[in-house]
Amino acid sequence: MIQAVIFDLDGVIVSTDELHYKAWKYIADQEGIYFDHVINHRLRGVSRMDSLNIILEKASKPYTEEEKLKLATIKNDYYVTLLASLTPKDILEDVNLVIDTLKQKGIKIAIGSSSKNTKKILKQIGLDQTFDEIADGNDVTRSKPEPDVFLKAAKKLGIDPENCAVVEDAEAGILAAKQAKMTAIAVSDARKSHLADYRFEQLRKMLALF
Ligand code: BG6
Ligand code: MG
Repeated sequence: MIQAVIFDLDGVIVSTDELHYKAWKYIADQEGIYFDHVINHRLRGVSRMDSLNIILEKASKPYTEEEKLKLATIKNDYYVTLLASLTPKDILEDVNLVIDTLKQKGIKIAIGSSSKNTKKILKQIGLDQTFDEIADGNDVTRSKPEPDVFLKAAKKLGIDPENCAVVEDAEAGILAAKQAKMTAIAVSDARKSHLADYRFEQLRKMLALF
């Protein structure tokens, strides 16, 4: 029985894709590296350093770990300034309805995100007091598709992974959920994933499971 739902943040609760794109594009342009929305798509659910490594696949020279850290810091500083534009209006469709309904039904809710900016983002959109627990990029070293962040969320909730469901918009997150032995609910792009247990075009449809 599903006792808790762990929500991915970026792309499920709020869309930050374009903000990540802008900040990575700034870095890519500065370094003379080709970068477009197709490559940006591959960064969904993937940690900051893993994202940078994907971008550097198109680089014409190798980068040292120190140089990579510098680039990641510049990207994040820029990204954080862009996050200041987020407001509760940016909460994606159905999110508030789903959260309220799950709470009424006594289902625990958590965030399981690769982002180290999770708390900042939740604050910007006014959802920083909403979730029972938050597990994010600061809690784990191995990012999705490894199951760590979802297992951490389950542990914080005190609920067995088998009794948790994950809502994800990225293939990497669906893989992570299945590796954690959780029910994987795919929305948006993740609906293409063969591994998902459920696929919903609208988030509110997931309420049929409860
Ligand atoms: C994920 C995003 O939620 O967080 C990825 O989907 C991003 O695109 C990752 O790279 C890490 O985010 P941050 O905020 O720690 O750089
Ligand atoms: Mg996502």
